Amino acid sequence: MTTVATLLTAVIAAALTLITSVHALGGSAPTVAVSYGDATTVCGIPAEQQTRGIQCWREDGQTFCLSPYISFDSVAGGWNLICGVRSGGFSLLCWNTTFSPKRLYYNATFLLQDLTVGDHQICALTNGTRNANCCRDDAVLAQLPSRSAEFRSISSGLGFSCGILMNTSTVTCWGSSAVASVIQGQFGNLTMSSIAVGGNHACGLNTTGFLECRGSNDFGQLGVQSNSPFEYSALALGANHTCAIRRMNNTVICWGRGADVWINVTEGVSFESIVAGLDFTCGLRSTNFTVICWGPGWRNDLVSSGVELPLPSLLPGACVQESTCNCGIYPESQKLCSGNGNICRPCDATVSAPPVSPPPTINPPRRSPSRAMTKGLLAFAIVGSVGAFSGIVTIVYCLWTGVCCGHKKIHNSVQPTIAGSNSNAAHTSNTSPLSRSSTIRRQGSRAFRRQRSGTSSKHTERAEEFTFSDLVAATNNFSLENRIGAGSFVGYIDPEYYGLNVLTAKSDVYGLGVVLLELLTGKRAIFKIGENGGAPISVVDFAVPAIMAGELSKILDTRVGPPELNEAEAVELVAYTAMHCVNLEGRERPTITDIVANLERALALCDDSHGSISSGPISLISE
Ligand SMILES: *[C@@H]1O[C@H](CO)[C@@H](O)[C@H](O)[C@H]1NC(C)=O
Ligand SMILES: *[C@@H]1O[C@H](CO)[C@@H](O)[C@H](O)[C@H]1NC(C)=O
Ligand SMILES: *[C@@H]1O[C@H](CO)[C@@H](O)[C@H](O)[C@H]1NC(C)=O
Ligand SMILES: *[C@@H]1O[C@H](CO)[C@@H](O)[C@H](O)[C@H]1NC(C)=O
Ligand SMILES: *[C@@H]1O[C@H](CO)[C@@H](O)[C@H](O)[C@H]1NC(C)=O
Ligand SMILES: *[C@@H]1O[C@H](CO)[C@@H](O)[C@H](O)[C@H]1NC(C)=O
Ligand SMILES: *[C@@H]1O[C@H](CO)[C@@H](O)[C@H](O)[C@H]1NC(C)=O
Ligand SMILES: *[C@@H]1O[C@H](CO)[C@@H](O)[C@H](O)[C@H]1NC(C)=O
Ligand SMILES: *[C@@H]1O[C@H](CO)[C@@H](O)[C@H](O)[C@H]1NC(C)=O
Ligand SMILES: *[C@@H]1O[C@H](CO)[C@@H](O)[C@H](O)[C@H]1NC(C)=O
Repeated sequence: MTTVATLLTAVIAAALTLITSVHALGGSAPTVAVSYGDATTVCGIPAEQQTRGIQCWREDGQTFCLSPYISFDSVAGGWNLICGVRSGGFSLLCWNTTFSPKRLYYNATFLLQDLTVGDHQICALTNGTRNANCCRDDAVLAQLPSRSAEFRSISSGLGFSCGILMNTSTVTCWGSSAVASVIQGQFGNLTMSSIAVGGNHACGLNTTGFLECRGSNDFGQLGVQSNSPFEYSALALGANHTCAIRRMNNTVICWGRGADVWINVTEGVSFESIVAGLDFTCGLRSTNFTVICWGPGWRNDLVSSGVELPLPSLLPGACVQESTCNCGIYPESQKLCSGNGNICRPCDATVSAPPVSPPPTINPPRRSPSRAMTKGLLAFAIVGSVGAFSGIVTIVYCLWTGVCCGHKKIHNSVQPTIAGSNSNAAHTSNTSPLSRSSTIRRQGSRAFRRQRSGTSSKHTERAEEFTFSDLVAATNNFSLENRIGAGSFVGYIDPEYYGLNVLTAKSDVYGLGVVLLELLTGKRAIFKIGENGGAPISVVDFAVPAIMAGELSKILDTRVGPPELNEAEAVELVAYTAMHCVNLEGRERPTITDIVANLERALALCDDSHGSISSGPISLISE
């Protein structure tokens, strides 16, 4: 095998480690959210869209899309806060009132579902294991019943959250508010099938389908006139009121503070889902999936067009890939999901109601989650994706420079063939072998430092070495000025990340593209033109114009022998692949699978001793 072939093999192997299999979630998830506090904001996931970004309306009349290029499954809101679980459930993003996103969770194995956001607390259940993951409020974390507790459902309200334990179907509550333990005590050993939490009260359906409310009743928020088995399907609780959807005709009934006055808005209207703010409620109308809101805290003059919010039609539930909906598929599911998944019908409580003493459930043995949630969440949020390709950088540098494996592959004897007029590229040629090898050593140790700082990469066994306080300190409490882009990974960071502050799989593709360009050119991600401190230039800006102009030979690393005929084509294919990887638009970048396919083709070209130059066009398929 030739040098190029060896390198390609290594890069392919490394790229394959970036492929993560992501499963979509089943079950229902909230697709309409309200955020309250400084400005009332209503958000939802639009129907009939290929890319399901979060659409929002704010009380100043603005409508906008949070992260238009990323699809979400579910969305929930709280005090000056909107959070969304990304399609597939592997990541949780939250936005504050200035709409700067923060990634709070990233884990491709333990996927999230059942997102719930109270005022300051964010909780979600992991798929399969049904463990509660909560963040933001440390007091809440400390009072979580048990890391290994399994929940049937959870809900967050003002200052506390409650969940229904899988094993006993009883209610357990936790949080910073003292109400938590009071309400848990009031539910006692009642067996429940669902739970919703409000200000100082919580309601749910018990296992025989009756509505049960506990907690403060200052405004009559606990009392409901009519309570027959399975009369209600969905619940939404505000600070001092309760609303429910009637199962039979999907109309809404509210009780508690200011509830009866607003019957004029909801009478005769059927809803797919409802969600409560502090002192108002919003519902997704069944007729055309538009949102209307009502309640003492809702000012009708906010919406100039009447009661209907200027939001597009929203999804009535999350679009999931599986056809394995437990309780059937929503009508027109395919159309609503734009041909990309289905919406599962919410399971009827008659079906989902667990037996009073459930049969032993067969669960795969689980490693007990040993670390505090925030730490895991934030460590992965900060270093997860970046770590994934730092390993590649190391592998590639090792192979390239030979410093790790003990045999150098650098052809020192080859003289540059680059025209002297191009000052960009002419500098390495004058370096003596001695100083060149010290450059190589520097590069090698740089690579090791990268590996150390990327210890939580998906394919290394080592646990992350960051504590939560480490991360807070290192990022100046996650201030924008301290994004990791300014750290040791500069040059490999996806430019989209600077704008969005979020790393995606396509960010890894960008990093991989930079590494490929480094390989081709023999330059660092950021290097200085000229020996003594010229202007720094990125390898992307250096190489891409030349590749586009078909002047690949001008930028190829002169230390490697000129490619033979068959290798030349392989190198060209690698160059074009790399160029597509560093596209500024993440969406336009190829997938890792496509990259691997192209690199494998390049490898095949190298192995082809006849130097055949007949091959199909370069195919780079973007998602
Ligand atoms: C929102 O978050 C960003 C970044 O974390 C921060 O700079 C900004 O001050 C926050 N805004 C508010 C209103 O909290
Ligand atoms: C996902 O989370 C589990 C449990 O917290 C952890 O053991 C695992 O290492 C995480 N995996 C990844 C890829 O982050
Ligand atoms: C997570 O959800 C997916 C899709 O619903 C399912 O295929 C998978 O088995 C679930 N994982 C576990 C551990 O149950
Ligand atoms: C149910 O699970 C909780 C949390 O894991 C545990 O504390 C409790 O002992 C369990 N109860 C029974 C009856 O297994
Ligand atoms: C339910 O709680 C009551 C006391 O509140 C207790 O006497 C009773 O034994 C409990 N029942 C079960 C099945 O644990
Ligand atoms: C559910 O609540 C109703 C009414 O309060 C009660 O009659 C019924 O026994 C409860 N079911 C269970 C399983 O506790
Ligand atoms: C409903 O009634 C309330 C209170 O009387 C009033 O403020 C509001 O404008 C009414 N809404 C509609 C749509 O009639
Ligand atoms: C829906 O059902 C409730 C109670 O069964 C009834 O009072 C109400 O009039 C019904 N509404 C419509 C529009 O059918
Ligand atoms: C709810 O009621 C409490 C008193 O019980 C009051 O302090 C609080 O302001 C009320 N909240 C709203 C949003 O009405
Ligand atoms: C949605 O349906 C309601 C009636 O249920 C109607 O008043 C409203 O104009 C419709 N909105 C759109 C955008 O079609």
